[in-house]
Amino acid sequence: MSARFRTWPLAMSVALLTGALGAGAQTATAPKRSAAELMDVLMWNKEPIGGPFSLIDHTRRVKTDADFRGKWLLLYFGSTYCPDVCPTDLHVIAQAVDQLGPAGDAVQPVFITVDPERDSAEHLAEYVALFHPRLVGLTGDPAAISRAASAYKVFYAKVPAAGTLEYSVDHTAFIYLVDPAGQYVGFFPPGTSAERLGQVLRQHLPSSNRASPVAR
Ligand code: NI
Repeated sequence: MSARFRTWPLAMSVALLTGALGAGAQTATAPKRSAAELMDVLMWNKEPIGGPFSLIDHTRRVKTDADFRGKWLLLYFGSTYCPDVCPTDLHVIAQAVDQLGPAGDAVQPVFITVDPERDSAEHLAEYVALFHPRLVGLTGDPAAISRAASAYKVFYAKVPAAGTLEYSVDHTAFIYLVDPAGQYVGFFPPGTSAERLGQVLRQHLPSSNRASPVAR
């Protein structure tokens, strides 16, 4: 559940709170950076963003970043258990790709889970099909997911659900654009519309779809 990162200005203040409260819960691996710190790095390009990954796709095949060369990647990190933010954003991504028409074939939408313990390849296969026939779902072992997430400065943390053994996953919700050479281009902030996504993508894609329909 990442509703708290949906609203851009609010995100920074709540993120600070999350960082403070969440610190004690994250003992398993290397110390995690706070959401605020990661967003700061992302927004101001303080460190290189992106990089190699090796994960498992929703058909159980190994997929690395190199397998996506030649495509414009729309990368999104989230969880299939997310009630609203992830489905909304994946729907926006799917809409944007479809609105590009044939030019959209050059765009590859990718969903990387930050909840690999629950999001198996099989589970992802059912999930990605709900949004777009070409959406690729990626999972992997927690360490591999952690490396991919930190490369893209994604914050995520388990949050226990009161009174049950279940948990939700808080995460930052940005859409990343990666070019056909595998280089990070930029990110779209939470709440970006399909129209805006399409507009930016069109500036990058081959000229076929550039002509405005009203400018004939
Ligand atoms: Ni989410």
